[in-house]
Amino acid sequence: MLMPMTEPDRSLRDEVLAGLAARPRRLHCKLFYDLEGSRLFEEICAQPEYYLTRSEIDILTRHGDDIAGALGENVTLVELGSGSSTKTRLLLDALDAPAAYVPVDISAEFLDESAASLRAAYPRLRIVPVAADFTAAMPAVDELDVPAERVVTFFSGSSIGNFEPSAASELMAAAAEIGGADGRLLIAADLRKEGHVLEAAYDDAAGITAAFNLNILARLNRDLAADFDVDGFHHRAVWNADASRIEMHIVSRRPQRVRLGDAALDFGEGEVIVSEHCYKYTVDGFAEMGRSVGLDREALWLDADGRYSLHLFRQAP
Ligand SMILES: C[S@@+](CC[C@H](N)C(=O)[O-])C[C@H]1O[C@@H](n2cnc3c(N)ncnc32)[C@H](O)[C@@H]1O
Repeated sequence: MLMPMTEPDRSLRDEVLAGLAARPRRLHCKLFYDLEGSRLFEEICAQPEYYLTRSEIDILTRHGDDIAGALGENVTLVELGSGSSTKTRLLLDALDAPAAYVPVDISAEFLDESAASLRAAYPRLRIVPVAADFTAAMPAVDELDVPAERVVTFFSGSSIGNFEPSAASELMAAAAEIGGADGRLLIAADLRKEGHVLEAAYDDAAGITAAFNLNILARLNRDLAADFDVDGFHHRAVWNADASRIEMHIVSRRPQRVRLGDAALDFGEGEVIVSEHCYKYTVDGFAEMGRSVGLDREALWLDADGRYSLHLFRQAP
């Protein structure tokens, strides 16, 4: 039985149709994260080509004490796009008596699963999950019944790279504001490197990233009454050196018509939907991006291979 459309469904449909009407066609990368997408992302993190997770773990493991010292004691840690919070456990373990942990994620069911597992592992830590789209509004800590004296916003996984540079700097400013004048922003940025390494990271041999990318189409079929033939499209990851980004594409294998509700969309053979941009930075370029929105970088940590970076920013006085 077809369920009637709710207001959120309608605004999602309008957003999706506007993206698919643009040239090149675009889908917002937040659409990846239904329950299946969140689980596939966890599998991506375990692929040998996906160095990003291992590099971040390396930083949090080798520099955990130094990072904890820079953040101070009794912090309330707010994490944007927390996913499974697996790497965050390393940070929580290193921190000196953290006061609370606020994981924020758009993937509500997966967030519930992650929060339940964290509560079991950290029974004495106050954990306040927030299911929300942080691009619509940042969480307000003073409304969450958590200590708000020393708030650190953590933005891991190099997710900042998924935003166009101007939107990324605005997001950094908004994230840094969560903690007010004494707050800090701890943020991971993946670094520029050889194109073949990057393309392999986003197109693993086991096909998990391909399944993750194409899962968007299955999600649109389910949530927006679309009829994409998922096998009629394929995944592609391309390094665009001039723009310093990996581009994830969904490519139509043949001419085809797709229905989305009462709209009809015609795809030519080889036509592309851009599903994600992943910008890669230099350490100086990333600090400059923070400076452009009034953030001073207080500290920087790199993994042993210099492939990945973790930055600590605060609002300039
Ligand atoms: C690339 S994953 C990173 C997960 C985790 N931070 C890590 O490093 O493994 C991005 C995460 O952000 C969440 N996310 C994406 N867009 C979001 C949005 N607009 N608002 C809230 N969460 C979002 C996804 O559900 C997913 O858990």
